[in-house]
Amino acid sequence: MNGQKILVTGGAGFIGSHLTAALVKAGAHVVVYDNLSTGRQENVPRGAHLIKADMLDLTRLRLAVAEADIVVHLAARVSIRASMDGFYEDAETNLMGTLNLLRALRGSHVSKLVFASSMAVYADMNGQPSIKESDTTEPISAYGISKLAAEKYLLLLGRTLGIKVAVLRYFNTYGPGQRYTPYVGVVTIFINRLLNHEPIVIYGSGEQRRDFVSVYDVVRCTIAAMNWPGDAGIFNVGSGKATSVNDLAGMIIHKLAPGATAVHEAEQHGEIKNSIADIGHARTTLGYRPADQLADFLDPIIAAHKANLTL
Ligand SMILES: NC(=O)c1ccc[n+]([C@@H]2O[C@H](COP(=O)([O-])OP(=O)(O)OC[C@H]3O[C@@H](n4cnc5c(N)ncnc54)[C@H](O)[C@@H]3O)[C@@H](O)[C@H]2O)c1
Repeated sequence: MNGQKILVTGGAGFIGSHLTAALVKAGAHVVVYDNLSTGRQENVPRGAHLIKADMLDLTRLRLAVAEADIVVHLAARVSIRASMDGFYEDAETNLMGTLNLLRALRGSHVSKLVFASSMAVYADMNGQPSIKESDTTEPISAYGISKLAAEKYLLLLGRTLGIKVAVLRYFNTYGPGQRYTPYVGVVTIFINRLLNHEPIVIYGSGEQRRDFVSVYDVVRCTIAAMNWPGDAGIFNVGSGKATSVNDLAGMIIHKLAPGATAVHEAEQHGEIKNSIADIGHARTTLGYRPADQLADFLDPIIAAHKANLTL
């Protein structure tokens, strides 16, 4: 990465700021392009330059892309639940913002684009132990539809523009720095509820199983994809391990409110019941080896949220 010019859209957000920090540390020249709608200026690590602008601003985007060798596109509205009511706003950023990026890439010197897609592109395959990249993509949320459409545009037009494209389907990412909203990041949501002396709310039986992957593993895999010489590829980025929502709640209750019980409410639309990544393709092609365990990260995440509460 040393000396390379990298544009990170959404680099002031949760995953983007961890990625930017790792890239700066590796000696890259990083420009963050972010409208700060959910991201924060103070998240942008020292050594990176921030352009505060929107993905829909073609002029600013063109100027930013003109200076880059590699683009990592993370800017998005990330709430699956909010995308159901806000499908228009979701598509405006997640689809039209991506198409604007493609317009800006035309005629640029960018050789590689890495795109943050999501496990939300898959169909709900209840009962299947894990999901492969070749499994059915039939999203059950507006967010999943816009991410899937964006993937397809990038893979198709990347080829005609002569730009290598790696699509990364991130699974549930946890780690320090995830901003609290009631809609994104179940680990963060559960911790915040208990810290605010509210019960954890589980939608449905809680037996739905998820793949929780640390933001550090996600960053390592994203950098591996940036360095990958292949022309085009789609990769699941998870831990490859299943944790039920009940087990997650149990682990967090044990740390913060021993003896407390979770409240169950009706299932939510738009969320895949069981989503565990088969990470074989990323393993063999990118050399990806997830190293972190969720249980080891709960204490630092809790500490980070406690510090935020007292700010
Ligand atoms: N966190 C997860 O578990 C997860 C899972 C799957 C996929 N993803 C994807 O990873 C990427 C990063 O997610 P995150 O969790 O860091 O979310 P985040 O909300 O922390 O980061 C998104 C960033 O994009 C910026 N942004 C939003 N709309 C923009 C616009 N129109 N123009 C410019 N900037 C804009 C926000 O200000 C924010 O800094 C997203 O593309 C998301 O869809 C995340």
